[in-house]
Amino acid sequence: MSASKTTPSTTGLEGVVVAETRLSEVDGQRGQLIVSGYTVEELAGHVPFESACWLLWRGELPDPSQLEEVRRGLGKARERAFQAIPKMGDALRMGDGMESLRAALAHLSVSNPDLVGQSIDLTGAAGVLLAGWLRYRLEQTPEAPNPELGHAEDLLRMALGRPPSPRAVEALNTYLVTVMDHGMNASTLAARVVASTGSDMVSAVVAGVCALKGPLHGGAPGPVLEMLQSIDYPSRARSWLERELAAGRRIMGMGHRIYRVRDPRAAVLEQAIERLARAGLANEKLELARTVEREAERLLQEKHPERALRANVEFYTAVLLDAIGLPSAAFSPTFAAGRVAGWCAHYIEQHAVGRLIRPASRYVGPWPKSLPRPTPAPAAGGGQTEK
Ligand code: COA
Repeated sequence: MSASKTTPSTTGLEGVVVAETRLSEVDGQRGQLIVSGYTVEELAGHVPFESACWLLWRGELPDPSQLEEVRRGLGKARERAFQAIPKMGDALRMGDGMESLRAALAHLSVSNPDLVGQSIDLTGAAGVLLAGWLRYRLEQTPEAPNPELGHAEDLLRMALGRPPSPRAVEALNTYLVTVMDHGMNASTLAARVVASTGSDMVSAVVAGVCALKGPLHGGAPGPVLEMLQSIDYPSRARSWLERELAAGRRIMGMGHRIYRVRDPRAAVLEQAIERLARAGLANEKLELARTVEREAERLLQEKHPERALRANVEFYTAVLLDAIGLPSAAFSPTFAAGRVAGWCAHYIEQHAVGRLIRPASRYVGPWPKSLPRPTPAPAAGGGQTEK
């Protein structure tokens, strides 16, 4: 393998620290996710999305009056976003939910000078735009938000076009909190790079959506559900997975750049689905998913003994969002509706740093005959990309 192939710049920046953050820490060896001083297990399923937003944006969990403040703020933000829909042209009528969210968010501009105020506006808007797109997709008109409701409840009510069950709301709250921030993932880096240029928060969030759209990042839960539907019976899991791997395809929802053990968020979501199942809301897909996960883990272990490829967050996302009534086309935009809170928090953090993110590259193109070729940099400890 050539030296250039092994540099972080060409293999995906593994291990390269691009920021100091108080927002979240991912320990891939221990399978641990810390969000602003709390484990994901302490937050998800225990605090509403609003509390976790405040934690990310303000650095501590809110007291009751602060919780009310952020809840009211998100409610008003949803109303403002809803009023802006007629000015968004066909943005919410696009076939693909992520393309629609990208286009619709791009119509927004932030006037609030306070960055937390902007975060509230954008987080509130993402829920309304996702729900509006879903209603148009069913050839119905978007439901107006109810600012009195919690964000997860109102999002689900607008998306489904009917009041959701308290269990479904609890599951969506758990999901949104679980996915809101996760270290220097690709979409967060994209948002931070935009923030570092001094650009505005809307642009950073749109960049986040663009990066999240890719199947290697946020686009996997839809294909996970398709996989489960296609397998259909637990007894067919092994042969189906063997065929996929033999065809050189990846098993969606398995593997992670950082985790070398099971993604802790998969366990959090699996437990949330168990609670839904006890309330009679999750269907037989939970048992199917568990079998598929077991078989996939076994086959991937045989194929890649050098690398633990275990379930990631997207695996149980598919089962949870399906159980609360969202169609698979809405899975990635729903991920974005949670992660937007993290992108905004990273914007605030990067804005305070005030330094342009501008890494280097290694030129491997043809060299002009008119110039002397410089002596190659030493293989280790030198070279432009190491500085
Ligand atoms: N199914 C089958 N093989 C997989 C795999 C999967 N889900 N994930 C990784 N591999 C294989 C790769 O094909 C590669 O094999 P090779 O060396 O023979 O080419 C090896 O494992 C290493 O993969 P690599 O692409 O270097 O790992 P990565 O750190 O870049 O991958 C992901 C991380 C998430 C992109 C990858 O695991 C993946 O594509 N997973 C499926 C998509 C998914 O669930 N995305 C959501 C992430 S939260």
